[in-house]
Amino acid sequence: MLQDSFGRVATDLRVSLTDRCNLRCSYCMPPEGLEWLPKPELLTADEIVRLVTIGVERLGITEVRYTGGEPLLRRELVDIVTRTTALDPVPQVSLTTNGIGLSRMAASLAAAGLHRVNVSLDTLDRETFKRLAHRDRLTDVLEGLEAADAAGLRPVKVNTVLMRGINDHEAVPLLRYCLERGYELRFIEQMPLDAQHGWRRENMITADEILAMLQADFDLADADAAERGSAPAELFLVEGGPARVGVIGSVTRPFCGACDRVRLTADGQIRNCLFATDESDLRAAMRAGAGDEEIAERWRSAVRIKKAGHGIDDPAFLQPSRPMSAIGG
Ligand code: GTP
Ligand code: 5AD
Ligand code: SF4
Repeated sequence: MLQDSFGRVATDLRVSLTDRCNLRCSYCMPPEGLEWLPKPELLTADEIVRLVTIGVERLGITEVRYTGGEPLLRRELVDIVTRTTALDPVPQVSLTTNGIGLSRMAASLAAAGLHRVNVSLDTLDRETFKRLAHRDRLTDVLEGLEAADAAGLRPVKVNTVLMRGINDHEAVPLLRYCLERGYELRFIEQMPLDAQHGWRRENMITADEILAMLQADFDLADADAAERGSAPAELFLVEGGPARVGVIGSVTRPFCGACDRVRLTADGQIRNCLFATDESDLRAAMRAGAGDEEIAERWRSAVRIKKAGHGIDDPAFLQPSRPMSAIGG
């Protein structure tokens, strides 16, 4: 079991498969991209599967989410998913992606046993997409969403980060779009995790603002709180349900107290929190010949020292040295 000193138990492993991405969302990275990890520093597919297996078999991991950067850029993705869904006990396996390439891959991912996908979609307007993500790929994302749904990777969840003056007029149209297609939309408060360190609290569209925008057009009612568990999204029934919309208020409504996550970066570091300041190097241990139990013990120690919360409101708060794209969303 992976338990921290506050009694929280990590059962949800988020694995970044690459720090690379084919978009440049401005809340994440600069238009010119970043200096990517050199190939030898990335875990190989075998190393990833070995660590995930240790997590599932020895440490009580029940959910595995592959993220990035952009996980569809990892050539071995289907193989990694196939090997993950063959584990005993079988974890719930999901993917968080920007959707580019999903139209091509959705069917093979479903056949590999992937359960579901979360796709980022911040705008329905081609020009806004180009301005926000610095690439002209909106159509690819929308086609990816459709393909995921058609392949049965349900419920398809959509993640939207609203940015002041850029796409914050699109909350209602985005919700309409998702309701029409049966996708579960979640609005995410922007967090200080961008590589440029450009986050400003006053530019963040808060959960309260998002709800006010939605309530102008929709009747929203609290969904069953018991259903939320440790999920970051607060869910609301739209027009009496069953359709739902979520708000992930990571900054103004933190859910750290119920956090059940632990992260593995693409270069094999365990991070016990998105905002962790320390990492534990499982890659070095593994490459030095450590056995499974030794790796499991390192991993337990890494989780034990998890902090109570992200501390964004703390005057001494420092952004983590790695940006979101290198941690895994
Ligand atoms: P499901 O609802 O199970 O599909 O998972 P999820 O919502 O955690 O998955 P996803 O990868 O789509 O993450 C959505 C957003 O939740 C991320 O972009 C983050 O903004 C936020 N989030 C995820 N994990 C954490 C976390 O550990 N801490 C904080 N503060 N926010 C997180
Ligand atoms: N704040 C909030 N969400 C972010 N994401 C990426 N960077 C940030 C940030 N700084 C979101 C993406 C994606 C998910 C993995 O994380 O939109 O949906
Ligand atoms: Fe790529 Fe995701 Fe960062 Fe956008 S948020 S640049 S899609 S890693």
